[in-house]
Amino acid sequence: MTRFRSLSSHLIFFCILGSMLAFFTTPITVQIPFSYFFGGDHRLALEVWTTKRARAIVIDSLHRQSDGTLAIEFTPALRAHLAANPNFRYAVFDFRSGRLAAGSSEELASHFQQVFVQAEVFGSLFHLLGDADPHSRGYIRTTETKLGRLATIVYGCQFHWDDILFQLHAYAAPENFVSYLLLALVLSLVAWIVVRSGLAPLREAAATIAAIDVNDLHHRASTANVPSEVVPFVDAVNAAFDRLRQGVARQKRFTANSAHELRTPIAILRGRIETLGESPLKRDIERDVKRIQTILEQLLVLAQIEQRDGCLSPPEINLQEVLLDTTADYLPLALAADRHVALEAPEEPVMIPAYRWAVESVAMNLIENAVRAEPKGGTVLIKLTDGAVIEVVDHGEGVAKEHREMIFEPFWRKSEISPGTGLGLAIAKELITKLNGRIWVEDTPGGGATFKIALPKIRRVARKTPHEMSGV
Ligand SMILES: Nc1ncnc2c1ncn2[C@@H]1O[C@H](COP(=O)(O)OP(=O)(O)OP(=O)(O)O)[C@@H](O)[C@H]1O
Ligand SMILES: [Mg+2]
Repeated sequence: MTRFRSLSSHLIFFCILGSMLAFFTTPITVQIPFSYFFGGDHRLALEVWTTKRARAIVIDSLHRQSDGTLAIEFTPALRAHLAANPNFRYAVFDFRSGRLAAGSSEELASHFQQVFVQAEVFGSLFHLLGDADPHSRGYIRTTETKLGRLATIVYGCQFHWDDILFQLHAYAAPENFVSYLLLALVLSLVAWIVVRSGLAPLREAAATIAAIDVNDLHHRASTANVPSEVVPFVDAVNAAFDRLRQGVARQKRFTANSAHELRTPIAILRGRIETLGESPLKRDIERDVKRIQTILEQLLVLAQIEQRDGCLSPPEINLQEVLLDTTADYLPLALAADRHVALEAPEEPVMIPAYRWAVESVAMNLIENAVRAEPKGGTVLIKLTDGAVIEVVDHGEGVAKEHREMIFEPFWRKSEISPGTGLGLAIAKELITKLNGRIWVEDTPGGGATFKIALPKIRRVARKTPHEMSGV
């Protein structure tokens, strides 16, 4: 059904319909007006159509008699034509028998019988001298018919409007149908090609629009080569994306500002709690406030990413150094929880274009998660490869296959009673994607989860260009 909703099918349908109407009404719309206005004598021009009709009626009235000669029968159509044209006379000369058909007008026969014996007349207009109507015209025409080669003479017809209907009917002949089919075929082909080639740039624009998501709202569909009728639509879509981008930016600013504003009252709250005497209630409140603070910090990190999104060239940092510092920072906490953290990194610096705070935030969250998952007494291994791939390996319960996409969704936690907020991995994914990297989770051989991050490494060139030096 959708096929018939396509522009090309509509166009082809209307091309066929329109050309059919135009083609088969040609006698009325073109031929008759043309011969009337540009054919000289108006009356004569119109009589041509009547003459054709009269000849067809006379030929239809013919039949061959048992002796082989032709006779014109007085058929109802002939009678009606005579009634409408009192001055109408007709005759038929049969070349096979060399005689006039019985029923031919004697007057015409007397004028032309000799002519047919001595000459072949293919088509000729004439007036009988001395005729009562000085404007009367006749036509002789030789044609091949079912009954053989005949010369028909019709004389004294006058134009009547119903002659046009006859002309329309006669026009729908098989040879005209074939011409029309060819015309319709060519028109349909042209319509199909025009639509396909005209809309090709629109398909490109659609592909660009389809790739736009909430994190990538700055792309716009191009109007280059798009048909001018469709440009307003593409412009409207682009304008809608502009408004959307502004709206999203406003919302993000609001989140960032709210998180920022809440920082101070929470810090004050923490200070106040510290003044309270030791009690289980105090510890519970401290834990809850800590959690609120973590959420706020994470929201601020997200806001920071958005703000720096426009900056296309982050500085060059040494990944090995960042991981060493982060591991060292986390080690006391891990030891306090009876776990160990070890770093395995190449000797050489691994340089990547990234923000140090972003890589630290991601690494810290992965290490924190891994330490939480690691069984008591175990060691979480942080590996850095030469190719700028970071692995955080633990030996806990691992991440089930069906959760491997979900864990990167905001607020997703396997268990409600776990201490986190479920934002860490979502932020990590956001940050790594912004740095053109990839983050995913695999099984640790022997049990546990291994989180991997692949980041684009800086390719060393022999000498730094001045641009690179100033960008660092
Ligand atoms: N190493 C791991 N082993 C097993 N499950 C894990 C591991 N890391 C994360 N998960 C699961 O993924 C969930 C989401 O982790 P994520 O870091 O996003 O949030 P969180 O640690 O719960 O809270 P926070 O926002 O403080 O980081 C965790 O709650 C946990 O269920
Ligand atoms: Mg976490």
